Amino acid sequence: MAKFAIITYSTYGHVTTLAKEVAKGIQAAGAEAEVYRVPETLPKDVLELIHAPEKPDDIPEINAEDLTKFDGFVFGFPTRFGAVPSQITSLFDAAGSLWATGALYHKPAAFFTSTGSGGGKETTIRSALSFLSHQGMIYVPLGYAKTFPEITNVEEIQGSSPWGAGTVAGSDGSRQPTPLELKTAYIQGQEFAEVATKLTAPAETDATKESAAAGETSTSAPAKEQKATATESEDTKKPETSASAAKSSEKSGCCVIV
Ligand SMILES: Cc1cc2nc3c(=O)[nH]c(=O)nc-3n(C[C@H](O)[C@H](O)[C@H](O)COP(=O)(O)O)c2cc1C
Repeated sequence: MAKFAIITYSTYGHVTTLAKEVAKGIQAAGAEAEVYRVPETLPKDVLELIHAPEKPDDIPEINAEDLTKFDGFVFGFPTRFGAVPSQITSLFDAAGSLWATGALYHKPAAFFTSTGSGGGKETTIRSALSFLSHQGMIYVPLGYAKTFPEITNVEEIQGSSPWGAGTVAGSDGSRQPTPLELKTAYIQGQEFAEVATKLTAPAETDATKESAAAGETSTSAPAKEQKATATESEDTKKPETSASAAKSSEKSGCCVIV
């Protein structure tokens, strides 16, 4: 069964609430979903000044090295001036070795967000795409197909867009995710899991097609061998570029990975 992580940062809990709905949607699509939070980077006195509550006990922290355990990711975070919060950037800043080994290459990822007024809901997600491009990850947008009535609803305020589900927290954070916003988050989880599971499924090779045509099961030995060979050559091929780039950086004394 495909296993996906919902990786969040949330100061006041709006993103956490959406994350739980995304998880339900993933599970409804028959995949595993685990919700995590990235470590807080703001000092305690600043958190007190902005009246941030304690982090929830039921959501464990995740670090960059843990990302390799999952088949894909749905990242959720509030906007910070229309961009990704630094807590999420820190996770990717710590993922240089994963870039060097190609560990996240072709893993699918999606995003959802929370804004105070709606200002920046799309640019926040868009600003996160650079992380995916450099890691060679595959962006799975929400789009309109499954959520047309929700996203195009202008009868009430809602924070979602084709870039991902969202909520509008209000300027004082008092507005909580509405049933409409929760429904969109659920659909995003479901839709993501359906697409991402296909991407993580074993590739159909000519040998598996021939075996299927000959009435053999897809787990027959020749097909398995073929898959193993394909995977092996892919595994050694994928990281080559970034790994050798990292190596030449080491040689030249360069410490910057781009
Ligand atoms: C430094 C900072 C910048 C923010 N920038 C924006 C913004 O550009 N647009 C907006 O609508 N809300 C903005 N907000 C409000 C947050 O988006 C809001 O607090 C958040 O969506 C609540 O989600 P959470 O409960 O998961 O933390 C900002 C908040 C902070 C602390």
